[in-house]
Amino acid sequence: MPPPNASQRGDSAADRRKITTQSLRRMKERKEPIAALTAYDHLMAQLVDKAGVDVILVGDSVAMVVQGRETTVTVTMEQMLYHATIVSSGVERALLVGDLPFMSYQVNPDEALRNSGRMVKEAGMEAVKVEGGEPICATVRRIVDVGIPVMGHLGLTPQSIHKFGTYQVRATTPDEAEEVRRDARALQDAGAFAIVLEKIPAQLAESISKELSIPVIGIGAGAGCDGQILVTHDMLGLYNRFHPRFVRRYAELAGQMHEAFRHYTQDVKARAFPSTGESY
Ligand code: KIV
Repeated sequence: MPPPNASQRGDSAADRRKITTQSLRRMKERKEPIAALTAYDHLMAQLVDKAGVDVILVGDSVAMVVQGRETTVTVTMEQMLYHATIVSSGVERALLVGDLPFMSYQVNPDEALRNSGRMVKEAGMEAVKVEGGEPICATVRRIVDVGIPVMGHLGLTPQSIHKFGTYQVRATTPDEAEEVRRDARALQDAGAFAIVLEKIPAQLAESISKELSIPVIGIGAGAGCDGQILVTHDMLGLYNRFHPRFVRRYAELAGQMHEAFRHYTQDVKARAFPSTGESY
């Protein structure tokens, strides 16, 4: 295969320009799809950024794919700040969004504002993400008013897993679909710069994307959104606990890593590693 050219590598001058919330809005206007992925550490963030991904989310999914927890609700503000800090030091181009963890923004708008400020000042994030619709809008407005961009998250909202009890597709009834649409409008009116729609019917996501002027980033929400996001450990085939059908696997790293570790162990046991060339 020929080596990728500059634009395929994502390193032309235009490609290297810093992504801002305004760039995302312009991408929506010119119908250029937005590519987003999660990252939780410096090395992964650097690789994602250099590949030309537009938005890097330090997601609270870190609880599941890195910490091995059952849900996202257990991750703390301090842990999110740690991951956000080691991600931001590896990123030059992508817009950096830090997930506010469960109970760091729900108690009251002042606490939400303080924690959003920490994401920006201490961890180098450029925006924060919150789950929820109308009930969270006063908080969104308060954060946006001090100059911190807020991304909303509707549909399947994993921080509410104990309320819903399942990770099944959401907004399948007309009432629920109308609620998601109302919440999306309310978030836009409250000043959110973008919204993630997770695991809802593609037609609904497309029609919300068309109605809103802010970008809508889908995950399991079909091709009609303004952009797509996946959990990096899912798309790399690293996280194997479940495999929802909206995850396209671009690699099967868990299998490759297993083979590498097994091969190494065999070599050590057989005294086939290190060789003289690998010794001093
Ligand atoms: O935490 C996360 O990774 C997310 C994405 C699934 C959007 O919220």
